[in-house]
Formats: sequence, structure tokens, C-alpha cells
Amino acid sequence: MPKLRMKNLLLACISIAGMIFIFNYVGIEGMKDLTELSMPEDFQEDSKSGTESASEEMHESEAELERPLEIINDNDEYVIRNPAKQSNMNEFDEIEEAKKMRVYDPPDDDKWEDESVWIPQKIWQTAKNPFERDVLKYTRFWRSNHPSYTHYVLDDAQCERLVTRNFGNPSFSKISSAYQMMPLPVLKADFFRYLVLLAQGGIYTDIDTTPIKHIREWIPREFEKENIGLVVGIEADPDRPDWYDHYARRIQFCQWTIAATPGHPVLWELVHKITMGTWSLHEKGQLSEDKDAVMDWTGPGIWTDSVFDYLNWRYGPFTWENVTGIETPKLVGDVLILPITSFSPGVGHMGSKSANDPTAYVKHYFSGSWKVLLITSLLNCMSEKK
Ligand SMILES: *[C@@H]1O[C@H](CO)[C@@H](O)[C@H](O)[C@H]1NC(C)=O
Repeated sequence: MPKLRMKNLLLACISIAGMIFIFNYVGIEGMKDLTELSMPEDFQEDSKSGTESASEEMHESEAELERPLEIINDNDEYVIRNPAKQSNMNEFDEIEEAKKMRVYDPPDDDKWEDESVWIPQKIWQTAKNPFERDVLKYTRFWRSNHPSYTHYVLDDAQCERLVTRNFGNPSFSKISSAYQMMPLPVLKADFFRYLVLLAQGGIYTDIDTTPIKHIREWIPREFEKENIGLVVGIEADPDRPDWYDHYARRIQFCQWTIAATPGHPVLWELVHKITMGTWSLHEKGQLSEDKDAVMDWTGPGIWTDSVFDYLNWRYGPFTWENVTGIETPKLVGDVLILPITSFSPGVGHMGSKSANDPTAYVKHYFSGSWKVLLITSLLNCMSEKK
């Protein structure tokens, strides 16, 4: 039998190598297409100068990051008001108070003409090392395709500082300390995207994504005059009886790309829930590094629930059946829900169409994780055969 096992092993190695080759090749081809579409210069040549100018821009925009929550926007209607100062309440009550006092008014028709009133022109991304070649090969497309946007690629220390500054008000101390005490980088990364969108608004997108369409074009013409405060994309719509083995929810919204106005109620509610959850684990001494908890602690599960809760609370009964199988963007109140193709084009299942489809907006490369996934699924396959 050892001979047979060796043969299997060899076969597995060859398949893995082959698939890595194919995937890398496809990846590079994908990048080439985009290069032709949007960036004529050769990456090799400008990567160095690109790094330098990126670094300068980063420096200039640091002042912006230091602005505390209460003056995020000069437009009165957008200001997240500070909670009342008097306090014998405990801090959770204060968060509750803050939520009641928020002023959230979507833009009216006149202001809609002014592009700056919509979701702020800021793109947020995070990376261990923002100037690494592997990072720049994606981020440069966001930067070059959105010249009027401020593009932030923040490292861990900058994220930490942004949270501390934006949620520095004593009333929000539970929020910033919940962020500090999270035991895994993946939790912090999740929480950070909600925090930055809550405080500053704009578009958060994962570091390994590239734009297919300009953010301005995400909203179909017929909705132009509507009030849009949040843009979410369907990540999973598993029409199969055993969906719960693979997905957190029957309809799952993705949180690797989100566009939001600052202070949107979905984000307040979500940040509140995550803060409470983290503190309750802390108080029970259960801040363990349990990776299974991620999905419901900060991940797509709790994110999806928050969106659904809001839609139900504000716009009446709303279930997965209201959005399953949609092929064009659907507006529900101030929330624009994008079909699965928008943020997950070409994944080849659940009705996702190709990246050339008019509703494809963002490409997600899942860098780093797909090789692991591939090898894991291959091993699963082999062990099942036994
Ligand atoms: C969801 O679908 C149901 C049934 O068609 C409908 O009554 C309801 O108004 C929809 N909800 C929203 C928020 O559009």
C-alpha cells in the first residue's frame, strides 16, 4: 500500500502546483485587463515613485484623521451630536443617549446635485504595510480611478490612532476600549471598518479589491434623486437546503466593501452591539481567541443582522425573500442593496455574473486565503474518498 499512498501524494502535489500556477496566471491576467482599462503606465516602472507620492499624500491627510467625532462635517444635518455631558449614567446608557441624540438626515433634493453631500469622497483601506508591492498592486487602482477622493491606506498604528481620536470623547470610552481589548487582528479589522464609516463615512474596501466601476456609478440613474445613506452588496444567496452548513445567514451582506454616510443608524446600532458583546465577554473573562466566534462577534453575521434589523424597524417587514435573486440594485428606504454580481462578480455560483456585467462594481481577489482554501478543500476531498 505505501506505493499507492506515495502515488496519491505525488498526484496531490502536482495538482496543487498546477492550480497555484493557474490561479496566479488568472490573477495576473485579471490585473492586466484592469490596467488596460484604467492605468496605462507599467506598474514596474512607477511603483517606486508611486510609493513616494502615496507617502506624501498620507502625511498631508493625517490632520484629517485627528478630527474628533463631533466636527466630522460642517454641514449641520450631518453632525453626529455629542451626547449630553451630565453623567451619573453608566457608559452604556451614554451610548444609548448618544444614539437618541444623533441627527441623521439624508440629503434633500437640492443638495443631491452637490456630489460632496452624498457619501463622503473618502476611500478607507487597511494594511499591515501600506507600501508593500503586493498591496500597491491593488490600491493604486482605487487611487488612480478616483482622483477627487481622499484615499487612505492605514496601518495598524494609524487605525489605532484614528479610533482613539474619533472616539476620544469620554462618552465613547467603552467603544474605543472594546476595540483595544479585542484579542485577534481579524476582530479589530472588522470593527475598524464600522468605526471609521460611522465617524467619517465614505467607502471601506478590503485591501485586495480593485474597482471595476467608479463609485459614482454604483447608483443607477433612476435612483439619483433618492436619499441613499448606505450601500451594501449581497455576498451570499445560497438557494440550497443545507445553506446553514456554509453560510451565516440565508442572505448574507458582504462587509469587505461598504459605502456609508457618517453616523448612519445601522452603524451606530452595530458598533453598539459589538461594544456590548466585547465588554460582556471581557466581564465574563471569556475574551478567548475563539475563531469560531468571529462570524457572529464582528463578522458578516452580525453585520447582516444589523442591516436587516434596520430595514425592518424603519421600512416595515423585510426578509431575505425581499432580496433573494435580485439582478439589479434595489433601493429600500435609504439603503441601496446591490446584487451578488456587484461585489462578487465571476464567483460562479448563486447567480453571480461575470466581471463584464454592467452590475459588476468591485473585484475581490481573496489574496492569501484562496491558496489555503484550495489546499484545505483538496485535503477534505481526499479524506472523504477514503
Ligand atoms: C417585502 O416583501 C413583502 C411581500 O412582498 C412586502 O409586503 C413588503 O412591503 C416588502 N418589504 C419592503 C421593506 O419593501
